[in-house]
Amino acid sequence: MKVIITENYEEMSKKASEILVSIVKNNPNAILGLATGSSPIGTYQNMIKDHKENGTSYKNVHTVNLDEYVGLTADHDQSYAYFMRTNLFYGLDIDLKNTNLPCGSAKDLQAECDRYNALLENYKQDVQVLGLGSNGHIGFNEPNTPFDSVTHLVDLTENTIKDNSRLFASIDEVPRQALSMGIKNIMNAKSILMVVSGKNKAEAVKGMVKGEITPALPASVLQLHPFVTVICDKEAGSLL
Ligand code: GLP
Repeated sequence: MKVIITENYEEMSKKASEILVSIVKNNPNAILGLATGSSPIGTYQNMIKDHKENGTSYKNVHTVNLDEYVGLTADHDQSYAYFMRTNLFYGLDIDLKNTNLPCGSAKDLQAECDRYNALLENYKQDVQVLGLGSNGHIGFNEPNTPFDSVTHLVDLTENTIKDNSRLFASIDEVPRQALSMGIKNIMNAKSILMVVSGKNKAEAVKGMVKGEITPALPASVLQLHPFVTVICDKEAGSLL
């Protein structure tokens, strides 16, 4: 696991975007695994800036996202589908038909998980972007999710509901469930790029990098992947 500690969020975002842009430049047909949350927003802004200034094209790029809340339609402003369109896709020349997320408003959630797993069989991520939950989750794989899990329905923990409530009008509006790629789907990526920022992530970062490999801290599984780059700001990396 390669760990890069940066001065601040801006430098973290710049370095992460450089890695993603270079993957797309080297392979215009790249498959990008993408993440939501506050951590990758700056990275995505830099990718949009690069697209506008340098013309890096995403016309033939395909994307697969990690997760989606259950019960929110794609036009809900807190859905991850909406997040991806407004924070990245609308700023690029990507064809929206080439972008994929689990559908959290599907009637049959198990059928939707099966559909997404089948899709992932054909879309092996050249790189999977990840954030890190303060409890060590990746995607929405909460503590004690088996390492061999594939896309599944998740009951969110109280900790995650509380962390994510900052983005909703009240904690009662935070969905209690989500669909998430499993840990096996994440580990299947050819490479992994994690961005982490802030003091509240420092314990989880320490456990992920130096701790025991255990489902109790899902991100610790990344120690088993041969090509992982973690870019964290000074605060997130303060316990390393
Ligand atoms: C959310 C998402 C994760 C994300 C994490 C951290 O629950 N499901 O994919 O990485 O929380 O979010 P943030 O970057 O906003 O701290």
